Amino acid sequence: MKALVLNTFGGPQAFELRDVPKPVAQAGQVLVRVHATSINPLDFQVRRGDYADLVPLPGITGHDVSGVVEAVGPGVTSFAPGDEVWYTPQIFDGPGSYAEYHVAAEGIVGKKPAALSHLEAASLTLVGGTAWEALVVRAALRLGERILVHGGAGGVGHVAIQLAKAMGARVFTTVREANVEFARGIGADVVIDYEKEDYVDAILRETNGQGVDVILDTIGGDTLSRSPDALAQLGRVVSIVDIAQPQNVIQAWGKNASYHFVFTRQNRGKLDELRALVERGQLRPHVGAVYSLADVPRAHALLQSPNNGLRGKIAIAIEPSLLSSAHSTVQATPEATP
Ligand SMILES: NC(=O)c1ccc[n+]([C@@H]2O[C@H](COP(=O)([O-])OP(=O)(O)OC[C@H]3O[C@@H](n4cnc5c(N)ncnc54)[C@H](OP(=O)(O)O)[C@@H]3O)[C@@H](O)[C@H]2O)c1
Repeated sequence: MKALVLNTFGGPQAFELRDVPKPVAQAGQVLVRVHATSINPLDFQVRRGDYADLVPLPGITGHDVSGVVEAVGPGVTSFAPGDEVWYTPQIFDGPGSYAEYHVAAEGIVGKKPAALSHLEAASLTLVGGTAWEALVVRAALRLGERILVHGGAGGVGHVAIQLAKAMGARVFTTVREANVEFARGIGADVVIDYEKEDYVDAILRETNGQGVDVILDTIGGDTLSRSPDALAQLGRVVSIVDIAQPQNVIQAWGKNASYHFVFTRQNRGKLDELRALVERGQLRPHVGAVYSLADVPRAHALLQSPNNGLRGKIAIAIEPSLLSSAHSTVQATPEATP
């Protein structure tokens, strides 16, 4: 099978597209023909060596699969050949999804929503699972609460906005000016242009000084230490980003705040919950650009570049026919055009 193999840690050109042996489903595993995957910041973090101790080389990265079951190993009862499935491969435990075939433990694989194309489904598994873990499991967001979703046009952010709306929250989000209408269109109630106004000032103005109940940090920097300034009493902060520098969160004490840190985990349960939201029309990933497997290096370079004009996700068409159908439907911004 064709796979994009990472031979050394480095820049986008560190990948090599080549033939590797097709994997075989062992007991409890399914063999999936991968139709689509997508690009996450984790992919370029792995590529440049941020997790070198956890990633043996040569290796295959990639953290989203949408595809069709080709074979099942002994003992598999939930799936049969021909089933459409979606999942995030076990992170840091075996090959990823930049390949024509992938094997996975039955327990992390979900039934793909019929309403989504493979490109859309592959654009939701990791970011959707992360947003679910952050808002449902950790923040326990409640009906009528206020939430600030940082980076509302990004992969995680645009899903978190829709999830928070489905949970009955009032959603505040930060984006750059070009993405204000996009954020409103997916349900954000209050959209803050983070280049024009300080988000703490905007939150305090829009909430009459009360602050929000939950903050989802997808950005990093000083977001953790500044969060108490925008937080209501007993507020919760959920961070999904690496905290590179120590931060002083003493102000959180005065707000009786709690902080949660999420590194997304794989299981079928949350995929089933996300599928239910998709089927009810409450959640749909936005595919901002589509590339082929051979063009993943270009997709990495685009995602890594600042002010890249992207909205939502970059999907990768591994099944070649998806690429031609995508070009007639995907609205890529000029900067994001492959
Ligand atoms: N812990 C986990 O399990 C987990 C899971 C998924 C992702 N993550 C991490 O979460 C982060 C976001 O992931 P992603 O997939 O959403 O990335 P992404 O698709 O690149 O989205 C990031 C978004 O943030 C926006 N942004 C940049 N600076 C901003 C600022 N100061 N204020 C508001 N928005 C800003 C970017 O748009 P503009 O630059 O155009 O404004 C972009 O829309 C990454 O660091 C990733 O590694 C962690």
